[in-house]
Amino acid sequence: MKLFMKIKALVGITGVFLATSGFAQTTLKDAFKNDFLIGVALNEAEFAGLNTNAVAIVKAQFNSISPENALKWESIHPKPDQYDFSAGDRYVEFGQKNNMFIVGHTLVWHNQTPKWVFQDDKGIPLVRDRLLSRMSNHIFTVVGRYKGKIGGWDVVNEALDDDGKLRQSEWEKIIGPDYIIKAYQFAHEADPRAELYYNDFSLENEAKRNGAIALVRKIQAAGIPIAGVGLQGHYKMDWPTNNQVDETITALSKLGVKVMITELDLDMLPPATKSQAAEVSMNFALRAELNPYTNGLPAAVQQQLTQRYADLFAVFVKHRDVVSRVTFWGVTDGDSWLNYWPVKVRMAYPLLFNRDGRPKPAFNAILQLAGAAVP
Ligand code: GLA
Repeated sequence: MKLFMKIKALVGITGVFLATSGFAQTTLKDAFKNDFLIGVALNEAEFAGLNTNAVAIVKAQFNSISPENALKWESIHPKPDQYDFSAGDRYVEFGQKNNMFIVGHTLVWHNQTPKWVFQDDKGIPLVRDRLLSRMSNHIFTVVGRYKGKIGGWDVVNEALDDDGKLRQSEWEKIIGPDYIIKAYQFAHEADPRAELYYNDFSLENEAKRNGAIALVRKIQAAGIPIAGVGLQGHYKMDWPTNNQVDETITALSKLGVKVMITELDLDMLPPATKSQAAEVSMNFALRAELNPYTNGLPAAVQQQLTQRYADLFAVFVKHRDVVSRVTFWGVTDGDSWLNYWPVKVRMAYPLLFNRDGRPKPAFNAILQLAGAAVP
């Protein structure tokens, strides 16, 4: 009795205990071990071990990690002749120490890539060959450094517009549309055993999804083994529908690739824009009505979030033969980029763990679903 009371008190004091002990209930990674990997994006305080609360949750619950920023071009290659591997090395070390599947994110993107990448030292736009050789140097250096350690790379991130056409990024404008094939070729040569992925948002919308399908076919036609497509999964409460997610996974799987949910979170704050896009450059002014839950989440909204997570996981589990990983974009609500985007600064509640590390009802709903689905 005494022991039981002690345990109860501990659980009461720190929800982390409940989430991490493996005593009171199963964990996410165990519950879904026959279905897919359960991943999480880490910031530096987490993979450097400073945020001990978050680290405890990560070690207990997740078996795959993605770097929120550490491997983006601006972090790892800040100047033309200067790479900075300090954060990347720690990130990879964290994954190795904890036996996790380590994701590389991302090699070629239009955001968080310094301006100099596309210019010569006088600020004049590069010509195709020079940008290609810069891209090749970057990919061989970064992928080469983590060869055999990083299991899969988001080679190209967000190359498509909403209509499914190629985004007119600097990459596309200077090199031409084959910049994508080149990026996959370089990555494959740099580490032939690493899985290569294409990662984007809003592929649940038909036009953009068709663009992604065409893109994957092109990469395959060039003889490069693309392993998977990442649906970022920056979802809203009313978009995409479960059907859209279901159809998208089915359509992509017909290409013979795996599908992964790579950046899952649920934005349930009032929308500042009608756009469904996860464009990191969007920024809208803060108005009080856009930030209604500064004193916590009302029970009814918590319930909607729980249901939405349960519904989405039902779709993921249904497709467990092709869905290889579900990665959350952040550990706790306090870590989420949605506190800062597309409006600065709000109280967002998009993930499975509260700001203090306690599991939310959505966490339990997902676990129950796994129990029901796994024979
Ligand atoms: C995009 C990128 C991620 C991250 C999120 C927001 O989805 O792929 O790296 O920047 O935006 O945090």
